[in-house]
Amino acid sequence: MDLKLKGKSALVTGGSTGIGSGISEHLAAEGIDVAVNYIVDEQQVLQFVETLNTTYGVNCIAVYGDVSKPEDNDAMVEQALDAYGKIDILVNNAGIWPTENMIEMPDENWMRVINICLNGPYLLSKRVVKSMIARNMKGVIINVSSKSAFQCNTGGHGHYTTAKAGLNMMTRSLAREISQYGIRVVGIAPGMVRTPINEDKWKDSGLMDQYLERIPAGRFAEPIEMGYLTAFLASDCAANFTGTTLDTTGGMLI
Ligand SMILES: NC(=O)c1ccc[n+]([C@@H]2O[C@H](COP(=O)([O-])OP(=O)(O)OC[C@H]3O[C@@H](n4cnc5c(N)ncnc54)[C@H](O)[C@@H]3O)[C@@H](O)[C@H]2O)c1
Repeated sequence: MDLKLKGKSALVTGGSTGIGSGISEHLAAEGIDVAVNYIVDEQQVLQFVETLNTTYGVNCIAVYGDVSKPEDNDAMVEQALDAYGKIDILVNNAGIWPTENMIEMPDENWMRVINICLNGPYLLSKRVVKSMIARNMKGVIINVSSKSAFQCNTGGHGHYTTAKAGLNMMTRSLAREISQYGIRVVGIAPGMVRTPINEDKWKDSGLMDQYLERIPAGRFAEPIEMGYLTAFLASDCAANFTGTTLDTTGGMLI
């Protein structure tokens, strides 16, 4: 489907693995130049970007940066702007999902999850939105939230659920604040997607069966499906969506 996104540019955090790779790939397939953020494994991201460029004829680049560090967010935005002159679409996808109980975890573990999953999207959104307003352009911010923002039914993710619930409210608050500039802010809430973050679940058939019982669709989603949804939300077909976080859990929240 041609969503008329050709020639736009995007920045996708954690964009070369798991859900991020599905998002970067489908945006590239729609003709978007993607600045693919990474924090580890430079060789992997360079190869990924080269594959996107040769397959889809786009100009994707790799952009290093830790989303929890203000100075890294400055550098990421600067590199994307140097390459493309503008950022039309920001996807705040980077995240971590550790398992540990709230009352036992060291304070710094709580801070780390909040810093990466909530403060990171804030720091980067602010910078990208300012670049959009300065260029008098419209744009879209897409936050990768989680089913866990709405419902926690496995233990040990208190920091993560809190961060993702906060991200949903940031999506709403920022949408309200900046819709006057023609900039939309939306979220997607996946349930279980087959990625490195949960490979201990889908590689263990016993655990996989337990999860499947909770997924009415009867399967883990694939990363590229998050790419399809993201491209739709980034397009003018979704012009009336802002401030909302879409359930893409295969029915886990029913
Ligand atoms: N896989 C699922 O079932 C699922 C469900 C709901 C939500 N999510 C969310 O989807 C997003 C992507 O996760 P995934 O499942 O693809 O796992 P993943 O581990 O493949 O992706 C996470 C990415 O974030 C990057 N990252 C981690 N810390 C970072 C930092 N400080 N700065 C920059 N990048 C950093 C990682 O290097 C990795 O590329 C996360 O926000 C996660 O919470 C995933």
